[in-house]
Amino acid sequence: MTAQAYKSRIEAELEKQFSGAVSLPQAGLADAMRYSLLAGGKRIRPMLVLEFCRIAGGDPADAMPCACAIEMLHTYSLIHDDLPCMDNDDLRRGKPTNHVVYGECTAVLAGDCLQAEAFGTILRSALPADRRAECARILADAVGLDGMCGGQYLDMQWEGKSLSEQELTEINSRKTGALIIAACQMGVAAAGGDAAMLESAAQFGAALGMAFQIRDDVLDVISTAEKLGKPIGSDAQECKNTYMALMGLDGCERTIARLTQHAKDVLSASFDDTGFLFAMADALSTREQ
Ligand code: IPE
Ligand code: IPE
Ligand code: MG
Ligand code: MG
Ligand code: MG
Repeated sequence: MTAQAYKSRIEAELEKQFSGAVSLPQAGLADAMRYSLLAGGKRIRPMLVLEFCRIAGGDPADAMPCACAIEMLHTYSLIHDDLPCMDNDDLRRGKPTNHVVYGECTAVLAGDCLQAEAFGTILRSALPADRRAECARILADAVGLDGMCGGQYLDMQWEGKSLSEQELTEINSRKTGALIIAACQMGVAAAGGDAAMLESAAQFGAALGMAFQIRDDVLDVISTAEKLGKPIGSDAQECKNTYMALMGLDGCERTIARLTQHAKDVLSASFDDTGFLFAMADALSTREQ
């Protein structure tokens, strides 16, 4: 399947989420959740879920609830990341951020609710019970203390501090890497793939996730808000530690190229049909959005 075909299927499925809430007294909360969930976005995490399910021998359609779940979880992380108490940004996915439209209270709750619904979506899916449980466990580990939330805490806590490359990696492997690894592993787990596949998926996700965050840091400096759909210069304004500040544009580009090659190498260890993921890794390494 092409990336565009995956994306259309994912969009169609996301479109259905929480659409039945119109008559509920709390319909406004569903509106806020749908506002950010359906605002666009590259959908790379759900695409990884579906493609890893396929190359691990499963039917991508069976992994669709896991794909939607990770996009809900990711959208929650973006809503909270943009809040005034965190990165204080007012543009996301080309639209005003959730708190700008709905207020901070609703934005916090929309994030909380998307997180709960993400786990509900996995646990209510038609996957065999052991695979459902494994996918939910993978996601929980990727979001919790040693995952995205832990990374976001360090990102905030270490603002303005001069960091080593290792410390920066402590932040980024969690705040961004963990969810990307989880996307790859959930696809494998939904297909019932073996331990070697899960390990290869984790290594691919770790390298891809690191390259992805380095490119994100680069784009915050060299891109435009129109192209990115989010503000540029936000990192400098918030005194963030970034790869751009640490190693400059050349260093970032070299590191991204090295990580992208590494991602492809580790994938080949357990999977044959790697064309889609190779092309995706290459495209992400020079992405403009
Ligand atoms: C942005 O993620 C936050 C990071 C982890 C760098 P994406 O670049 O995947 O954002 P969307 O989903 O396309 O909006
Ligand atoms: C955020 O990293 C990663 C998340 C967990 C949301 P950034 O703060 O760099 O992401 P952007 O640049 O706002 O998308
Ligand atoms: Mg941030
Ligand atoms: Mg941010
Ligand atoms: Mg950023």
